Amino acid sequence: MVFWKRLFNNPDLSTTDQTSEFDHELVEVKGQSAGQSRIFFSREREIDLYELEELCDAVGWARRPLRKVKRALTYSFMVVSAWEVKGKQRRLIGFARATSDHAFNATIWDVVIHPKFQSKGLGKAMMKYMIHQLRGEDISNITLFADPHVIDFYRRLGFVLDPEGIKGMFWYPD
Ligand SMILES: CC(C)(COP(=O)(O)OP(=O)(O)OC[C@H]1O[C@@H](n2cnc3c(N)ncnc32)[C@H](O)[C@@H]1OP(=O)(O)O)[C@@H](O)C(=O)NCCC(=O)NCCS
Repeated sequence: MVFWKRLFNNPDLSTTDQTSEFDHELVEVKGQSAGQSRIFFSREREIDLYELEELCDAVGWARRPLRKVKRALTYSFMVVSAWEVKGKQRRLIGFARATSDHAFNATIWDVVIHPKFQSKGLGKAMMKYMIHQLRGEDISNITLFADPHVIDFYRRLGFVLDPEGIKGMFWYPD
């Protein structure tokens, strides 16, 4: 919470742009803001679960029990969010999280940008931010499961489908 407090107390605090090093936990995304609104990425974990549910609803994802979503956030290695800030108000407009063994591997889950903010480069910027943060934690192997309709979105970010023929395998209960 401390980063948001500092931002609201000092609106000029965050001046890092999209191409600069993402060294802070609260980073302003330049080139995305319009009028009074500014957009930030954050690694803060305290996300209102109802706001996250609204964001997931907006892209048509099936609802999940909030107590399980809460556990998923708590035990994720990294949680990244995108926020639109207007005056003293902030709104969750993007989200992604990663699980990890804290040494070699991380897997990214639940990548979402609110439809109103899609197709403006924000999803790409948020993924780049997350990859940068994971690399900063010395994680070298980053994986994810892509829905078929977003494979090219991830390809553009450098993700490779079935490297060396390796296939993802799933086990589901009967
Ligand atoms: C997928 C998603 C996160 C992309 O976010 P976005 O902000 O709209 O994407 P961007 O505007 O940053 O697009 C970056 C690039 O990917 C491309 N792209 C975006 N969505 C794409 C898609 N569905 N298929 C193929 N390419 C796509 C863009 O054209 C752009 O290409 P460019 O770099 O050559 O200009 C967003 O559409 C979303 O939240 N979708 C619903 C939830 C979802 O499906 N999540 C993924 C689950 S695996």
